[in-house]
Amino acid sequence: MISFNAEQRFIVTGASSGIGEGVALLLNELGASVIAVARNVERLSAMKAKAKHPENIFIEPKDLAEDIENLPNYVKSLKEKYGKFQGLAYCAGIGGIRPLRAVEKETIQEIFDINYFAPVFMAKGFADKRNNNGKGSSIVILASAGGVRGEPGMTEYSGSKGALIASMQSIARELAPSYIRVNCVSPTLIQTQMADEIARTYAEGKYPMGLGEVSDVANMVIYLLAEQSHWITAQNYIVDCGVI
Ligand SMILES: NC(=O)c1ccc[n+]([C@@H]2O[C@H](COP(=O)([O-])OP(=O)(O)OC[C@H]3O[C@@H](n4cnc5c(N)ncnc54)[C@H](OP(=O)(O)O)[C@@H]3O)[C@@H](O)[C@H]2O)c1
Repeated sequence: MISFNAEQRFIVTGASSGIGEGVALLLNELGASVIAVARNVERLSAMKAKAKHPENIFIEPKDLAEDIENLPNYVKSLKEKYGKFQGLAYCAGIGGIRPLRAVEKETIQEIFDINYFAPVFMAKGFADKRNNNGKGSSIVILASAGGVRGEPGMTEYSGSKGALIASMQSIARELAPSYIRVNCVSPTLIQTQMADEIARTYAEGKYPMGLGEVSDVANMVIYLLAEQSHWITAQNYIVDCGVI
């Protein structure tokens, strides 16, 4: 059975909503300490209010799309405040459906900033051996099934997630000799705030077991963060009810 202790600290980005909130609450329920990162303080506080052990949730408001190159220093500053980290769950992200005729360099940049550049630089900060617990540390990144199969209108989103999956596999192989693992979890439609936007392109009847829920993804993320998955790295797990 998976359990953690309060000395095992995890950075969870996107912890104010959806999958990130689910991951933060489940980690906390299983005994870990969570450094919860997102922009919206009210929603972060609401998440903390739902936690089983609220004393082990630490709210860190931050816009991860700003000053991206400095994110490794940001991770270092969190380490100095809280101590070394056992794991990073990068669940922040934005959706976006735009037909190719409306795609501009700036619209691609906006999606890539939070969906690609920020996770790469957060992983860079986490991978610094001064910031993690060494052997057994784990990074899990929320990518998307859209990163392996593009649907109409998803040039930017699918591009950001496909690039993310490819880069994380490279980072995983780079960090494997240090026993630090890196995996992606790639859902299709999950019922969150983001899904309202994405849902327009995916018919509900497409899923033989119904729409996915946050817990379906959060449990996979927790497994990949935990010691129980200690020989698993450089993988991209598609959570899709068999649709792709
Ligand atoms: N839901 C789905 O159907 C689905 C499917 C495939 C993949 N995914 C991926 O799963 C991840 C989580 O999605 P979700 O459905 O949970 O979305 P969500 O409910 O919209 O949550 C997104 C989270 O990202 C945070 N965020 C966005 N921009 C940020 C920024 N600039 N700086 C810091 N935090 C930021 C938001 O917090 P604030 O607004 O408070 O900053 C929020 O906590 C995303 O990477 C998404 O692409 C989701």
